[in-house]
Amino acid sequence: MNLGVATRCRYLSRDLVFPQLSPEARADAWLSRQFEKSFEVVRRLKSGGMGELFELEHKRLGRRCVLKALHAKHRSRHDLAARLENEARVLSSFSSPRMPAIYDSGTLEDGRPYYIMERLLGEDLCASRGVSRENAVRIVSELLLALELVHGAGFVHRDIKPDNVFLTTQGRVVLLDFGLARRTRDELRMTRLGLTLGSPRSMAPERHGDSGGDERSDLYAVGLVLYELLAGCGPFDDVGASVAALRAAHERRLPKPISERLLVELPSRLEQVLQQALAKNPLDRFASAREMREALVNASSSLVYDEPTFVETDPLGLVRDEPDELPGSYAFETQWASSSTEG
Ligand SMILES: Nc1ncnc2c1ncn2[C@@H]1O[C@H](COP(=O)(O)OP(=O)(O)O)[C@@H](O)[C@H]1O
Ligand SMILES: [Mg+2]
Repeated sequence: MNLGVATRCRYLSRDLVFPQLSPEARADAWLSRQFEKSFEVVRRLKSGGMGELFELEHKRLGRRCVLKALHAKHRSRHDLAARLENEARVLSSFSSPRMPAIYDSGTLEDGRPYYIMERLLGEDLCASRGVSRENAVRIVSELLLALELVHGAGFVHRDIKPDNVFLTTQGRVVLLDFGLARRTRDELRMTRLGLTLGSPRSMAPERHGDSGGDERSDLYAVGLVLYELLAGCGPFDDVGASVAALRAAHERRLPKPISERLLVELPSRLEQVLQQALAKNPLDRFASAREMREALVNASSSLVYDEPTFVETDPLGLVRDEPDELPGSYAFETQWASSSTEG
């Protein structure tokens, strides 16, 4: 079937059916019609690099969930469609509160793949810079627990960055966006030869090379998340957004210690953890997510730490309205108390 022609015809009919609406509202109305049997499309949530996300409500169950579809601008990108399908498969192989639960997946009428997942309440870490250092350590320690599961199942994530880590209003840390995930020892590369996929700001030096990186590249990216949560900015933000400049900085520049940057005392062992995580040579980094997590917890023992436990107060996704207070005042179930920090 010539999907291109079929797709164009559908757009034509979509424009004819909703002529009075703006292009975006027309696209949303069209999407609503796709799911009208079971779901109401409540609102557009976000547009990421690869996907468009919508909040849905199940008509009979009243449960809210999130639909992630391949972004309309990538409609003809079969490689990205394959990635989104792969993402849904990888995510559904986990059964853990550290990743979003997947409920369904399929293909929209215009050929774009989608999946439906648990709706999370809260914010991704992009909105959470400036959290206390205790919370920064707790969040990253939970992120490492998630990564331990991912690596243990034989995957590398390859796109760890603040946008892809979600902090729920109940303090749960959830790892999102497995669009670049691949099997650790996968021979079948989804990446076209010579094409590096990822976020240059968050990529370990070796991610630009032929191997595309491994578990230790994920740990480097976790180091960057920790740095950013503690410092309020990435170590190389001053170089700008050019891929070449960011790559050169990750390859050659040493990140400024946080205590120097912020002129505050930070436990020196915490700086050492950052240094090791952000080592240029992957072999100088932590060998595993568990090793890094243990080092992090030990390094921050002067910040009183309890094992994180969360209680999800909205396990069925039934809460309709956003809570009054969002970021800045997360109700952590974890017991944290700040004690004096060592130099
Ligand atoms: N299940 C969810 N519930 C609520 N918000 C979500 C959920 N999944 C993703 N998001 C939000 O949408 C953004 C984009 O999602 P993501 O899966 O990262 O898409 P992309 O592949 O386009 O980057 C995330 O950064 C996060 O803020
Ligand atoms: Mg993302």
